[in-house]
Amino acid sequence: MASNTRLLAFCCFFLPFLLSSSAQAQDCNSETFSSNKLYSTCTSLSDLASTIHWTYHSTNGTVDVAYRITQSSSDWVSWAINPTSTGMIGADAFLAYHSAGTVQIITSPLSSYGVTIANDSLAFTVYEMSADYSNGAYTIYATLQLPNNSTTQNTVWQAGSSFSNGLPSAHPNTGNGAQNINLDFLSGQSASTGSGSSTLHRRNIHGVLCAISWGVLLPLGVIIARYLKVFKSMDPAWFYLHIICQCSGYILGVAGWGLGIKLGSESKGITFHSHRNLGITLFAFATLQVFALLLRPHKTNKYRFYWNIYHYAVGYSVIVLSIINIFKGFDILEPEKKWKHAYIGIIATLGGLAVLLEAATWAIVLQRRSEEKSHHGANGTNGYGGRPLQQYA
Ligand SMILES: *[C@@H]1O[C@H](CO)[C@@H](O)[C@H](O)[C@H]1NC(C)=O
Ligand SMILES: *[C@@H]1O[C@H](CO)[C@@H](O)[C@H](O)[C@H]1NC(C)=O
Ligand SMILES: *[C@@H]1O[C@H](CO)[C@@H](O)[C@H](O)[C@H]1NC(C)=O
Ligand SMILES: *[C@@H]1O[C@H](CO)[C@@H](O)[C@H](O)[C@H]1NC(C)=O
Repeated sequence: MASNTRLLAFCCFFLPFLLSSSAQAQDCNSETFSSNKLYSTCTSLSDLASTIHWTYHSTNGTVDVAYRITQSSSDWVSWAINPTSTGMIGADAFLAYHSAGTVQIITSPLSSYGVTIANDSLAFTVYEMSADYSNGAYTIYATLQLPNNSTTQNTVWQAGSSFSNGLPSAHPNTGNGAQNINLDFLSGQSASTGSGSSTLHRRNIHGVLCAISWGVLLPLGVIIARYLKVFKSMDPAWFYLHIICQCSGYILGVAGWGLGIKLGSESKGITFHSHRNLGITLFAFATLQVFALLLRPHKTNKYRFYWNIYHYAVGYSVIVLSIINIFKGFDILEPEKKWKHAYIGIIATLGGLAVLLEAATWAIVLQRRSEEKSHHGANGTNGYGGRPLQQYA
């Protein structure tokens, strides 16, 4: 059994590092925003050196957008949604420009070419908007209600240098038409020339991997170890089941962890500190557990008792911290409510199961104890009865 254990520990330890080398960098991921504003997804637009960042709130159909474009400070820039068509006509635009030394932002529906830009309201509700200019780039910030509650929208952007009456005016429409992209605010996919960002997709993969591994497999493995070993017929099957759960949990968990660290390093200037630190602590503890397998003293060794205490302490800490961190992850990722509810359901089921099994195994242990008393220790050395649960391992 010892050599098997070592092999399992070895696989456990090295496989994740092979699995967790994926994911390619996107330009837009390194951009940061004033007041540390955060966005879950971004995409680099191929035209006019611009990027768009956003967070979609599925609960109310709103989206927080940051549109950034490198442009001379004397020019105006515009980002728009066209709820009914593609291109500029019919688009509802945000425009940013410099006036009297400060950056202004206005909204204007664009009903026709050569339209006079006015500061008018749009077809959809705008909850917040602002703009800034730094490092040679304008950024338009807006929180808006997606028209028709649709997550796919035609988006349009443009820049120009002419003004009339202090407001932006038509850009020359020779060879410099409005840039257009159909953007899916939910998936981050874009149909057109822009490169769809896979950040949201990768964050979801990170979330699913970590919830399954740290959040389900590892606690399940603990339940197996704690309760199945009471049944004599489950020895040594419980041990292998425990190792399989913890090992696959560790492998998937480290893959998810690696992706999380990668996502964290890509989001420069924005760090979810407690989620990240907990994640690193978890990884360290779980890795310690794998190493502890290699150092496990034999059952008869006097240090086995202390090893067990250590193994339980680290193991239970990992479970508790994992569950806390998964809920922190839910808060960051803001997935649809059903995912959080599903996870709460699974954890509650495992918790309920543990309580039932705890009662059942204590009943069994107490019964064995009384049987042993009546046999007056005749079988006292044979089997499990009479010892506290913790010493079975
Ligand atoms: C959009 O959807 C949200 C939630 O699904 C709802 O609360 C809101 O009223 C909807 N808005 C419109 C304009 O349909
Ligand atoms: C929409 O939902 C998000 C997240 O749930 C919230 O932060 C935001 O304030 C809501 N916006 C509106 C206009 O209700
Ligand atoms: C545009 O209109 C809004 C709301 O009516 C107003 O607060 C803002 O000052 C106006 N901006 C300009 C540049 O006219
Ligand atoms: C909203 O959706 C309805 C039905 O899907 C469609 O008929 C209508 O044209 C849409 N409105 C806009 C502004 O896209």
